[in-house]
Amino acid sequence: MSTTHLPATTGQQLRRRSWAEPWKIKMVEPLTITTPEHRRSALEEAGYNTFLLRSEDVYIDLLTDSGTNAMSDRQWAALMLGDEAYAGSRNFYEFEDAIRETYGFTHVVPTHQGRGAEHLLSQCAIRPGQFVPGNMYFTTTRDHEERAGGIFVDVIIDEAHDPESLHPFKGNVDLQKLAEVIGRRGGSEVAFLSLAATVNMAGGQPVSITNLREVRDLCQRHGVPIYLDATRLVENALFIQEREPGYADRTIASIVREFCSLVDGAWMSAKKDALVNIGGWLAVNDEQLFEEIRNLVIVFEGLHTYGGLAGRDMAAVAVGVRESVQEEHIRARVGQVRYLGELLDGAGVPLVHPVGGHGIFLDAKRFYPHLPQDAFPAQTLAAELYLDSGIRSMERGIVSAGRDPKTGDHRRPRLELTRLTIPRRVYTQAHMDVVAEAVEAVYAAAGSARGLRMTHEPRYLRFFQARFEPLEA
Ligand code: F0G
Repeated sequence: MSTTHLPATTGQQLRRRSWAEPWKIKMVEPLTITTPEHRRSALEEAGYNTFLLRSEDVYIDLLTDSGTNAMSDRQWAALMLGDEAYAGSRNFYEFEDAIRETYGFTHVVPTHQGRGAEHLLSQCAIRPGQFVPGNMYFTTTRDHEERAGGIFVDVIIDEAHDPESLHPFKGNVDLQKLAEVIGRRGGSEVAFLSLAATVNMAGGQPVSITNLREVRDLCQRHGVPIYLDATRLVENALFIQEREPGYADRTIASIVREFCSLVDGAWMSAKKDALVNIGGWLAVNDEQLFEEIRNLVIVFEGLHTYGGLAGRDMAAVAVGVRESVQEEHIRARVGQVRYLGELLDGAGVPLVHPVGGHGIFLDAKRFYPHLPQDAFPAQTLAAELYLDSGIRSMERGIVSAGRDPKTGDHRRPRLELTRLTIPRRVYTQAHMDVVAEAVEAVYAAAGSARGLRMTHEPRYLRFFQARFEPLEA
């Protein structure tokens, strides 16, 4: 399953040894197996949008790795120790300690999830008309930045937009692009650099520490702060350990700390790396900014010692954050994603390389070369995969990209992807085998796919609630 473990000698040959998930199962949740007729009617009812399916109608759910993690027995035990006081819950202090120790920031505010933190940061740190450069956009992040009056500019390296480029750090910032944005009206007109590690929309691609150091030098010269989306930073740290010279002997925990020492603050959707079902936080070092955030959190989330979470939720985050940086955990997590990638590579299925940290991103443009982007190839692929096997995936292409606020036209991203996102500690290797076989079957039938037409388009973050109809042959 992975290349990282001890080789065993069999006769003359060195052979890779299999490895298994570093946990055993204590409680099971039965899965539903549906018929093709049932799936056809469920998908029609859902307007061909996998977000609108009922989870009961799904067999293997790879919609997202967000909030879909299995908690450990220690996390469940911590839930029972929830202190549900309105103010000053014990669990808040455990939460604050865990985040301070793991990520190294001084001031921590809990939020109900990642976008709650994005909202607070955007409102406190962006003046209308300022630029907000970012290493590719994320849907909710950019939305909050634009709502606060910011002008988002993508400054990721070109390789990130190329699904076939094998660059080891496709999440890196292009220094020239960043310098160009700063040069337009000077550093004071750049609110901050919005840096994500890993980069979700590029396929879970990492940022290197070397790149971050260079970016930091440039930002410091122009007085531009860097705020980090630390949602999947632990996965990023594994790629640094594996790929960046000088980091092979470093612990994941120390790499996470070093990365954070190079930025001014961070936010996180704890629903990913931190192994919980709900939660988030925003953390900064600057006293004055913290004061503003602490004021605003009360308006939108809740008191600054719970931020929209129950005491027990904060307790589960505190344990999950510490589990997330354990070496065997993160290796198995990313190793499982890689295992699925290897199966699909073996079958010649087109996907984004290198395989990232949280899922496989199928390249719908190459999967369906006969479909124009206006026929929503990635949305079509998600629908076809569900019809074939009841596996739920997610569109990450033209539908997710939305419309340009100025021209009103579709934004047409170069990447037209369907994401198979792997929840943490939920599915086994056998589930991955089933997924690979289903994708292969859909690929074999690719020539007969006709594409979709959008029949309902919500104004904000349309991919969540849009509806579609099949195009006629
Ligand atoms: N940042 C990144 C990189 C994310 O992937 C997400 C959520 C958020 C911020 C927002 O956090 O959902 O807790 O409000 N990504 C989910 C996904 C929805 O499926 O990729 P949230």
